[in-house]
Amino acid sequence: MSVYGDRARLTTLWDAERELFRATHPASGELWSRASAHLPGGVPMLWMSKWPGDWPVYVEEASGAHFRCADGIDYVDLCLGDTGAMVGHAPEAAVRALTARLTAGSTFMLPTEDAAIAAETLSERFGLPEWQFTLSATDANRHVLRYARQATGRRKVLVIDYCYHGTVDEAYATLDGDGRVVSRRRNIGPPVPLDETTVVVEFDDLPGLEAALATREVAAVLIEPAMTNIGIVLPSPGWHDAVRAACDRTGTVLVIDETHTLSAGPGGMTARDGLRPDVVVVGKTIGGGVPAGAWGMTRELADRVRASLDWDGEGREDLDVGGVGGTLAGNALSMAGIRATLSEVLTPEVYPGMIARATEWTQGVQAAIDRLGAPWQVTQLGCRAEYSFRPTPPRNGQEAADADDFALQQYLHLHALNRGILMTPFHNMALMSPATTSADVERHTEAFHDAVEALYG
Ligand SMILES: Cc1ncc(COP(=O)(O)O)c(C=O)c1O
Repeated sequence: MSVYGDRARLTTLWDAERELFRATHPASGELWSRASAHLPGGVPMLWMSKWPGDWPVYVEEASGAHFRCADGIDYVDLCLGDTGAMVGHAPEAAVRALTARLTAGSTFMLPTEDAAIAAETLSERFGLPEWQFTLSATDANRHVLRYARQATGRRKVLVIDYCYHGTVDEAYATLDGDGRVVSRRRNIGPPVPLDETTVVVEFDDLPGLEAALATREVAAVLIEPAMTNIGIVLPSPGWHDAVRAACDRTGTVLVIDETHTLSAGPGGMTARDGLRPDVVVVGKTIGGGVPAGAWGMTRELADRVRASLDWDGEGREDLDVGGVGGTLAGNALSMAGIRATLSEVLTPEVYPGMIARATEWTQGVQAAIDRLGAPWQVTQLGCRAEYSFRPTPPRNGQEAADADDFALQQYLHLHALNRGILMTPFHNMALMSPATTSADVERHTEAFHDAVEALYG
């Protein structure tokens, strides 16, 4: 579906940007040709080939909110590794702690002091007492679903239409046009038909959620507190209280995935809005640049799982991985990264500045939209903001998806890239790190204005 009418003009603008990209990124082009011999798409993970332009930009080095590519161009990075680098690139305190850990050994299958301190800090921030660590938020979500099944003896998982929680089999489901649960488009090798494992409801559809939970077949509700992967969709007032109440009535485990919504504050939306999940999942930026994920849970949930497995009692000799974890999960390097990041980089003190930058970005983009008469709008969530090609904020995933226009998005992103600004691929999101400055934001505002003027002027 297209939301921008003048396709001929869009094609002309797109062709000009492609030509400019090719002319200014020859070194990345050469690296891509070489890499393509043994890497499908010339990239280590196929989704990295989805950037606009004829080939991806190859990075040489990065610091704070900027990086330099193989062609020597400096960029303001508003993608920040899609939250993986929300703390900024190579934050000094994290690099110091990580370097010290690397030179003193980084993986042992044994704990270090950093683990205890990281867990204490996360407990304080999210109000949940028991933590486990993984290499990614995907892994944490996978493991949490197993905990929820074990605790409840139920099989199914409820997710929101157009959600994304990483490459989690059960969450890779969507609703078809007739409201049936089906596998997401182009899902590779789903283990079983997805309606066997998953119930899908629209965001904010309380009657749908209540009816699904009333069957008492659902082990866990897995939600983001605001949707962030189909654009930003904020919840209606009362949604979270009602979800909590429905979970309480039906004995369902409530899992809140704060991987992206950590943008809202040091304890995500959970702390900011006083939410009461049974489990919180975090990941990406918490490692300060190295892979790390974690989940926190209530004592009650952890006790239920332990009791069902007879782990802490006489059966200690049976203590096993339980099918959860991985050799490098909770490794000493990840734990050093999390400790340093939470205590010295992503501190409560840096949030007001990050959020102020996102407000400047939101205001600049909205002003350009209004001045040029584009029927679009911007939504902000803490230090993250995103524009969508519709005049009012989307209320659910379907509304957000209906406003998608891939060619238009590609043009805007390539226009930005050609002016030294990296937007987040797949959607129109900008993220602010502690190192992002007002001048960085202004660089985007000016370029965005020119791009929209070329479309609507
Ligand atoms: C809300 C949410 N949860 C989990 C993940 C998975 O994170 P990772 O890919 O780092 O495992 C993502 C990734 O974008 C996400 O957006």
